[in-house]
Amino acid sequence: MAKTALITGVTGQDGSYLSEFLLAKGYEVHGIIRRSSVDYRERIAHLEGTPHFHLHYADMSDSMSLVKLVGKVMPDEIYNLAAQSHVQVSFDAPEFTADVDAVGVLRILEAVRTNHLEKTCKIYQASTSELYGKVEEVPQSETTPFHPYSPYAVAKLYGFWIIKEYREAYNMFCCSGILFNHESERRGETFVTRKITLAAARIAQGKQNCLYLGNLDSLRDWGYAKDYVECMWLILQHNTPEDFVIATGVQHSVREFATLAFHHAGIELRWEGEEINEKGIVASINTALAQAEGLKVGDTVVAVSPDFYRPTDVVNLLGDPSKAKRELGWNPQTTSFEQLVELMVAHDMKKVAADDAAAEIRKVNLAEYLEKGVDK
Ligand code: NAP
Ligand code: GDD
Repeated sequence: MAKTALITGVTGQDGSYLSEFLLAKGYEVHGIIRRSSVDYRERIAHLEGTPHFHLHYADMSDSMSLVKLVGKVMPDEIYNLAAQSHVQVSFDAPEFTADVDAVGVLRILEAVRTNHLEKTCKIYQASTSELYGKVEEVPQSETTPFHPYSPYAVAKLYGFWIIKEYREAYNMFCCSGILFNHESERRGETFVTRKITLAAARIAQGKQNCLYLGNLDSLRDWGYAKDYVECMWLILQHNTPEDFVIATGVQHSVREFATLAFHHAGIELRWEGEEINEKGIVASINTALAQAEGLKVGDTVVAVSPDFYRPTDVVNLLGDPSKAKRELGWNPQTTSFEQLVELMVAHDMKKVAADDAAAEIRKVNLAEYLEKGVDK
């Protein structure tokens, strides 16, 4: 019998990769979507209408919708990925973040209990390295104390503890994956990596002059999202319900990410100034396209803006993936940092060019339409 999985957050970066992964394993995959006035299903558009992939309306803030859906789908596994996942946004919308990221986890657990599935349904909770926040040791492992440092992290801390509580109180198979930052071509465009790769591609093609960033010194352990969704599944296939750190064990700064991303877009950067006055300046240009678009050596293409500083910022994340390596047999180095940056820039170089080509076609079509008129 094929297993049935329910994914919350199916339209997100991880939800889309996890859906592909589980479908390839022969699962019946059900995903939760919520109503929006605009199309936001781009990441799963290629899966819609395929035989084993099903979408349902529900919301993490609506208990009844979750109880009814869990009862209808009767999942063997639930992957709770839904969240207001942007740390900076959590300072502006802390109550919404708490409702979805903290109480939402409780709602899922109670939906499983209400439907009497606690003995058969396993639950994966998308936990985060943000729990380590103002870090108390480097690198961070499963035994490192938590020190959450944003409304997002505090909400996720509740999620982590309520999962642990239900595991111990009701003997449920529920686990947290403490995932460090993972990125991809499908990463949301306001997270720092994707913001950088898109901007590097636009600047190289003459579509943007300057990229504004916040804290360039911030250190992250960046992995590839496609590699990380495998771990979510492995955690639920483990003999015992346990929590795992998932990370690469390699750390880089935002500045290093930007330097490498611009390099792959054909622009070498040098850095000048400090803190708010720091700038990324064009040192050399290795692409005829950027030169043709008017980019010159000495141009400032990266600058710092206080708009992207956070009231409290997490600045030193480095994970120790030893337990996942040992007990799950997972390889944290499947995709290196260098490969990750390269594949994201290659994707965005094509995307910017394609968006441009599509705009050109629309312009030609519009011109033809205006000339010929609608009835001719
Ligand atoms: P993402 O791209 O921002 O996706 C978040 C998903 O949650 C989207 O599908 C979103 O739906 C859904 N969602 C938000 N509020 C909801 C609500 N009220 N009801 C139902 N669905 C809702 O995030 P991601 O990068 O894939 O991350 C997946 C999970 O892992 C999140 O819980 C995140 O906090 C956690 N995490 C991520 C990372 C990382 O580096 N990516 C690291 C550690 C942990 P819409 O499309 O409708 O907005
Ligand atoms: N977003 C953003 N935009 N971040 C910037 C910028 C900018 O312009 N400039 C510097 N940064 C710094 C942030 O201050 C932060 O220290 C770091 O870059 C990474 O920021 P994000 O890419 O927004 O990710 P995050 O680490 O805050 O959160 C992501 O990873 C967490 C796991 O550690 C999200 O995916 C969370 O959902 C996830 O839990």
